Amino acid sequence: AEHMGDDLATVMFTEEQIQDRLRELAEQVWADYHDKDVLLLGVLKGAVMVMADFMRALPGSAEMDWMAVSSYGSGTKSSGVVRILKDLDTDITGRHVLIVEDIIDSGLTLSWISANLRSRGPASLEIVTLLRKPEAAKVEIDVRYVGFDIADEFVVGYGLDYAEKYRNLRVIGTLAPHVYS
Ligand code: PRP
Ligand code: MN
Ligand code: MG
Repeated sequence: AEHMGDDLATVMFTEEQIQDRLRELAEQVWADYHDKDVLLLGVLKGAVMVMADFMRALPGSAEMDWMAVSSYGSGTKSSGVVRILKDLDTDITGRHVLIVEDIIDSGLTLSWISANLRSRGPASLEIVTLLRKPEAAKVEIDVRYVGFDIADEFVVGYGLDYAEKYRNLRVIGTLAPHVYS
């Protein structure tokens, strides 16, 4: 288990930048949801860190649930073919659901999840994501809360993995070329 920091080419966001932005998003979300019972729905596994910090940045109560999907993508790309590995425990009929994601890349995963959830009749369905790659979008998704728009580069850390590694980095960055070879 060598030092993960040695594998980074660049640090794109520091711990402080991530936490500051999550606090701003939490304020924005709370302004819209303070009078509602919000259910935060995280998408495993990437969203684990965002969920933990974003949820604690909310000044009032919220519920948490999780969904695990497999996107049949290998390595660094997702395919849009999605299968539910773990469904929600909560009946979301009539609920205010806020999906929590680490990153929207092609948008294929969230587009499928949103359609699936919408068919269950929630009172509202919105998305909060820490990162989004506008240039990589293959489908249009309406995302209410975005932390940072980034260039179409592969990033790891703070929940984001490369071959299941680097999720526990506290920063978000790009990998050095030697990692891929
Ligand atoms: C990553 C990321 C998003 C999704 C975005 O998850 O966490 O959920 O890909 O890609 P898309 O917009 O192109 O669909 P991944 O499938 O790698 O699973 P993980 O969260 O367990 O890493
Ligand atoms: Mn994910
Ligand atoms: Mg992944």
